[in-house]
Amino acid sequence: MKIETYRGAPFVDREEEIEFFVDWFSEVPQRILWVYGPKSSGKTTVIEYVVEKRLLGEGNWWEEGKFWVKYINLRRKLISSYKTFLHAFIVPEDVYKETVENNKSFSLRVFPIERKNLKEIEAREKDLFEVLMEKIEEESRHRRAILIIDEIQKLQDLYINSERELLKEFLNFCVSLTKEKHLCHVVILTSNTVFR
Ligand SMILES: Nc1ncnc2c1ncn2[C@@H]1O[C@H](COP(=O)(O)OP(=O)(O)OP(=O)(O)O)[C@@H](O)[C@H]1O
Ligand SMILES: [Mg+2]
Repeated sequence: MKIETYRGAPFVDREEEIEFFVDWFSEVPQRILWVYGPKSSGKTTVIEYVVEKRLLGEGNWWEEGKFWVKYINLRRKLISSYKTFLHAFIVPEDVYKETVENNKSFSLRVFPIERKNLKEIEAREKDLFEVLMEKIEEESRHRRAILIIDEIQKLQDLYINSERELLKEFLNFCVSLTKEKHLCHVVILTSNTVFR
């Protein structure tokens, strides 16, 4: 059993899981990867380790690298409505570029979208998932795309409008990315047994 130090704390016995993720990401996306586990079992830590140490190398990974990765931890966001959800993850392209110059890891947590599209999405004239799909289609032409969502249960009970449930639409989008289009890996982490 290997004991490593990660972020200054012991990181024990995760070789198998790490290799599992690395192998998974080397294959063509076929289905969503669900990661369940009791609270504090180490789900977030292992996936963050994989992203940081195995997927993103040195250099300009946010621009070139082998992988295009978005890692969204919903616990770290205050999300009370569809609007706050949008504002937490979608930023105008110009703001994205400026911020990433000072804070590289910002690029992991948000999607840059043209201002025009952003306004239309906010006004519900354009579909968020269509815009994201186009973005991922474009990125996945050059490198392997990976979308990781931690604490997915926080999307429960949010609505895009009175007829559209955010969580349902989001999961449909993930199925399309993986099973249908084979465009992007999707990893969803939760300790919530509702999702089993
Ligand atoms: N392999 C490991 N060896 C030792 N400590 C670990 C390991 N993995 C995680 N930890 C520690 O255990 C604690 C819980 O880990 P983490 O937050 O990753 O769990 P989690 O499953 O994501 O929990 P939650 O369900 O609350 O999101 C953290 O303090 C973390 O540093
Ligand atoms: Mg966690």
